Amino acid sequence: MKKIAATDPEAQSANLFAENLERLKALFPEAFTEGKVDFDVLRQLLGGALDEREEKYGLNWHGKRAARKLALTPSTGTLRPCPGESVDWETTKNLFIEGDNLEVLKLLQKSYAGKVKLIYIDPPYNTGKDFVYPDDFQDNIKNYLQLTGQVDSEGRKLTSNTEASGRFHTDWLNMMYPRLKLARNLLRDDGVIFISVDSTEVANLRLACGEAFGEECFVIDLIWRKRDGAPNDRRIGSVHDHILVYGKSVSAMSSRSMAEDALNLMPRTEKADAEYQVFREPDGPDTRGRFRKIDTTANAKGGRDVASLHYGVRNPYTNEIVYPRDGTCWRHSESEMKELQRDGRLYWGVSGTATTPMRKLFLSEAKKGMTTPSILPDMPFNQHAARELEILYGKKSVFDTPKPVRLLRLLAHLGSDSAGIVLDFFAGSGTFAEAVMSLNAEDGGRRRYILVQLPEPVDKDNSDQKIAADFCAELGKPGNIAELAKERIRRSGVAVRGENPMFAGDLGFRVFKLDATNITPWDPDRTDLAGSLLNSLEHVKPGRSEDDVLYEVLLKLGLDLAVPIETREIAGKRVHSVGAGALIVCLDTSITAAEAEPLALGIVAWHKALGPAGETSLVFRDSAFDGDVAKTNLTLILQQNGLTNVRSL
Ligand SMILES: C[S@@+](CC[C@H](N)C(=O)[O-])C[C@H]1O[C@@H](n2cnc3c(N)ncnc32)[C@H](O)[C@@H]1O
Repeated sequence: MKKIAATDPEAQSANLFAENLERLKALFPEAFTEGKVDFDVLRQLLGGALDEREEKYGLNWHGKRAARKLALTPSTGTLRPCPGESVDWETTKNLFIEGDNLEVLKLLQKSYAGKVKLIYIDPPYNTGKDFVYPDDFQDNIKNYLQLTGQVDSEGRKLTSNTEASGRFHTDWLNMMYPRLKLARNLLRDDGVIFISVDSTEVANLRLACGEAFGEECFVIDLIWRKRDGAPNDRRIGSVHDHILVYGKSVSAMSSRSMAEDALNLMPRTEKADAEYQVFREPDGPDTRGRFRKIDTTANAKGGRDVASLHYGVRNPYTNEIVYPRDGTCWRHSESEMKELQRDGRLYWGVSGTATTPMRKLFLSEAKKGMTTPSILPDMPFNQHAARELEILYGKKSVFDTPKPVRLLRLLAHLGSDSAGIVLDFFAGSGTFAEAVMSLNAEDGGRRRYILVQLPEPVDKDNSDQKIAADFCAELGKPGNIAELAKERIRRSGVAVRGENPMFAGDLGFRVFKLDATNITPWDPDRTDLAGSLLNSLEHVKPGRSEDDVLYEVLLKLGLDLAVPIETREIAGKRVHSVGAGALIVCLDTSITAAEAEPLALGIVAWHKALGPAGETSLVFRDSAFDGDVAKTNLTLILQQNGLTNVRSL
C-alpha cells in the first residue's frame, strides 16, 4: 500500500506544466533529451513558423510572465463540502463553490478539463469602484483566507482598484489572464465563452483573449443595451456593454471557431413565420404548404458571370420565354433554374402570367431557428435586473451589479446543449444559476451549472455595503456576497418551481468552500524533528471531517463533485463507494489486525456487486492501521482479488 505524499499527483490539483510537456513530447519526441526540451531541435522541427523578432504584435504588460506561470502552478487547496448550506444535496448535480476563482479553476481541472460546454463570466469591469482581487504568487490560499477575513487579516484589506494606483490596467490584466487560460482548459472542443465587459477594458480583454484563446477563435462582440437613457453627467453617455464570444478550437472544416457552428439558433417567432403564406396559383395552392417568395434576379454586376446568367426561362402557363429585366440577371445557373421549374418551385403569380418568376421557400424547409443579431434586440436593462433581485430579496439595492435573467438565459440558450455543464466563475448574485434553471424549466433541458463566487465581505460600516450586510445579518449568515448568491439561488429555485409546477428538473445545488488542503504536508520543523515526525503520523489536519477528506480524494483523482456516493458499514467501519465503485474509500481511524480481513473481504464482495467498468482506486487512512500486519493483510487480500490500486493518506 503506497502512501500518498503531499507531492504526489493524487494530493495535488492538475499539474498543467507537466501536462503541457507531455503533449509537446507526444508531438515532438525528438526535441526531448533526458526529459528536458532541446530548443535547438524544436526550432528546427518548427521550420519557418517561429517568430523571433524582438518587436512583436500583441499585448504586453508588467507581470504577464508571472500571470502565465500563475495559471500553471498547481493549487494547494481543497473544496470542503457543506451539505447544510445546500439544497437537495443527495440528488443535485449543480455546484456552488465559494472561493477565489483562480484556485477553484485550478482545483476543477482534473475533474472537468474539456467537459464544460459554456462559460459565462461577468468580471469586475475595472471602473475604479470595483475591487480587483490581488493574487499572491507565493501562497494564494493563505492570501485568499486573509483577504476574505477567514483568518487573521494582519491588517490586509480589500481595496478597489483605482485609476490613481498607477497599475490600473495591469492589475486587471494580471487578475484576468491566468483565469482566462484556465477557463479555456475546461471548455469542450465545441465549447464557448461569453465575457461581459464595458468600454474600460474591452480593448485589453480582446487582446488578452486573442492570446488565451487564439484570435481565430473569436466569434463575435455582442452589444447589449443596458440602459434606456444615457447618463446625463457626460457629453456622450454609454448605454451599452460588450459581450465577447470566443470558442475553444478552430473547426477542422474551416478556419472558423468550432463554437460558431455549435452555437444555437433562436426559436422562430410568429412574426417571422407570418411571412410564409398560402398563395393562390392557377392550378390550386401548393400542397407543400406555406411559402415565402424570393427574388430570382440580381443586379447584373460585380463578380457574376453575367453572360451565363442571362438565359431564357419558359413560363409553363403562357409558354412565353422570359428573360431577366434590363440591368439584372438570374441568381441561379440555368441547370438550377430548370430543377426549380421541374420541382414546381417557381411562382408565376395568381393567374400564371408573371414575366419574372419568384422562388418558393417553404416554411417546412426554412431554417429551424433564427439568427441572433449582434446588437441584441429587446433585452431588459440593468434597472430590470435590479428589480428582479428586489422582488426575490424583498429589499432594494442589496446587490448593485446583477445582470437580467433574460439576458443570461439567451446566452445559455445560444451556447449550451440541453444537458451540458455550464460555468460562471464570477457569479455575483447568482443570476446565471437562475437563468439556467429557468431555461431548463422552459425547454426541458438538463443543463448543470457550476458557479464560483468569492465570499467578498460586505461591511455594515461602509455606506455602499450596509444594506447587503444588514440583509445577511437578518438571514443569520456571514456578511459576504457568496451568501447573497446562495440565498438568491434558493429563492429563485422556489420561484421557478412555482412558475413551472410540472417541472421535475434539478433546482438544487451542492455547496463547497475553498480551503487549504486537509492533508498535512511533510514540512519538518528543524528545531523539533521529533514533534514533526509525530505530526506526520496523522496526515489529516485536525478539525477536518471524514467528508472533507473524502471530497479532496475525489477531486484530486479527477472525479465529478456531483457524483453519487454510497456509504456502508463493513466490519464496523464506514466505507464509501464513489461513482458506483470507481473509488472506494475507508477513512476510519482504527483498523486492527483482526479487523483487516473481514474489512477486505467485505470490500471485495461489495466491489464485485457494483461491477464498475474501469479500474477501482482504494484509499485508507495510513494512521488507522495498528501495525504492519493489519496493513499487509488488507492489501494482500485486496490484491488477490484484482484490487491493486490501494493507497493510504
Ligand atoms: C459584476 S459581478 C457579477 C454579477 C453577476 N453576473 C450577477 O448577475 O449577479 C462580479 C463578481 O465577481 C466577484 N469576484 C471578483 N473577484 C473574484 C474572484 N477572484 N473569485 C471569485 N469571484 C470574484 C465579485 O465579488 C463580484 O460579485
